[in-house]
Amino acid sequence: MPTLLAPPAFTDELWQLLRDWHASSPPTHPWQNLAIFTPGQSLRTALNRILLAGLADLAQNAAHAAQLLHLRFADELTAQVVANRLNVVERTIYKWQRSTVEQLAKALWRLESEARSGQQKRLATRLPPVTYTRLFGVDAHLEALTQRLLAPGPPWLTAVESLGGLGKTSLADALCRRLIDAGSVADLAWVTAQQQQLSLTGAIQPVERPALTSAELTQAIAQQLLAADPDYATLSHTRKKERLAERFRTKPHLLVVDNLETVADLQALLTHLRAWANPTKILLTTRRSLLDEADIHHFALPELGQQDALALIRHEAGLRNLPAVAAARERELTPIYDCVGGNPLALRLVVGQLQVYSLPIVLAGLRRAQGSAAAGLYTHIYWQAWQSLGEEAQRVLVSMPLVGPDGGDLDLLAAISELPPDALHDGLSQLVSRNLVDARGGLHERRYSIHSLTRTFLHEQVLHWGEMMGWRELSPHHPFIPSSSL
Ligand SMILES: Nc1ncnc2c1ncn2[C@@H]1O[C@H](COP(=O)(O)OP(=O)(O)OP(=O)(O)O)[C@@H](O)[C@H]1O
Ligand SMILES: [Mg+2]
Repeated sequence: MPTLLAPPAFTDELWQLLRDWHASSPPTHPWQNLAIFTPGQSLRTALNRILLAGLADLAQNAAHAAQLLHLRFADELTAQVVANRLNVVERTIYKWQRSTVEQLAKALWRLESEARSGQQKRLATRLPPVTYTRLFGVDAHLEALTQRLLAPGPPWLTAVESLGGLGKTSLADALCRRLIDAGSVADLAWVTAQQQQLSLTGAIQPVERPALTSAELTQAIAQQLLAADPDYATLSHTRKKERLAERFRTKPHLLVVDNLETVADLQALLTHLRAWANPTKILLTTRRSLLDEADIHHFALPELGQQDALALIRHEAGLRNLPAVAAARERELTPIYDCVGGNPLALRLVVGQLQVYSLPIVLAGLRRAQGSAAAGLYTHIYWQAWQSLGEEAQRVLVSMPLVGPDGGDLDLLAAISELPPDALHDGLSQLVSRNLVDARGGLHERRYSIHSLTRTFLHEQVLHWGEMMGWRELSPHHPFIPSSSL
């Protein structure tokens, strides 16, 4: 939190601003980042508005002091003229001026401190409702993303990418809260294209009025950032976009677009976002990696490691008053991790199920794809991605359980899927971009693997979907059907 003591540079900058009251507008100024800054016709107008607000505040307790500065700098009267007007000698004017500028700096800094704490509360209301009580395994991610977003240069766009339920939205939310609390963001907008949510009992709930096109997302951003402008109701869509562009250019904002994978006209949206970037930073979350977009920093969110996953299970069990689960030994809880891996959504869902069923029943339900919770989870995480895959990609995916947990190389995948190289490459790139398959390794070797949850999902559920899509009529030797299920 800022203190009431203005930093020394602030007073120096104030002196310079007073002297430059009538100078031409500078291209940029450090005070653009203050909470009391609001864009004006020109940067100079906006800066002078801050000075006038400070003088008005000062005038409440020290009317003469405020008048002195106004006469000297806004009215540009010489010290001699002001001295005559105030019936003092010229030297006294210089003395008063020095102490009065100090007073003005204090007044402005107090206004800034008040504006910041009001701003922090206001910005936090733009974030989605918090779904977590504690996040596990995110400290290093928060640190890395904080540094990236606070660095003054490019990349201006950062995308947090992962399979569904791995915690992209929660991480973005925690990051925003951290930056707001530290007073590091001047302003922020958060919009989401999320269409559905999964309750922790496994029910899929549609999100009311999701913003699914670039026009709807722009409208949602404008509503957050421009609604207070007096002429807002009369602005056309184009004018709103222009005004947002002006705002984003003059004052660095943080703009978050959540669940980008469901945006219908992604390329159009990316074009807007690029026009709005610099100095504004843009954070995206998406299940579908934007690997073709060279100017976006890709932050691949990994699943939780075993220790964090077990800590999450225990924490969740504590919240749900399941003391036997909370106190269970590591080897008793490890089967949960083996079944769903480090997917926080699936881990929370499993613990929720433990309120009603025993652990073997819950895990068997997930493996056999039985029960509404398993169906809801798989549909929420995999359905959209699955049905968007081409035939080759589906074929590669269903053969992935034959690859061990450490992954397999291209030769192994070619042998298992029996696909020619071009088809395999095409299928793999679809799967990697949808975060259904992870590509790990370095320049000389790449290994392809799936999350444990995907492995469990592929065990049975995919066959149900295959039947829905007509696989039943396929011959038993069709490679879509894993041999284990024949
Ligand atoms: N690191 C974590 N520790 C504890 N709980 C977490 C963590 N990350 C996410 N969660 C919880 O897991 C659930 C899923 O998280 P979240 O919605 O952030 O995932 P997501 O990746 O955004 O999913 P989607 O792809 O569907 O948008 C939420 O209930 C959230 O509170
Ligand atoms: Mg999300």
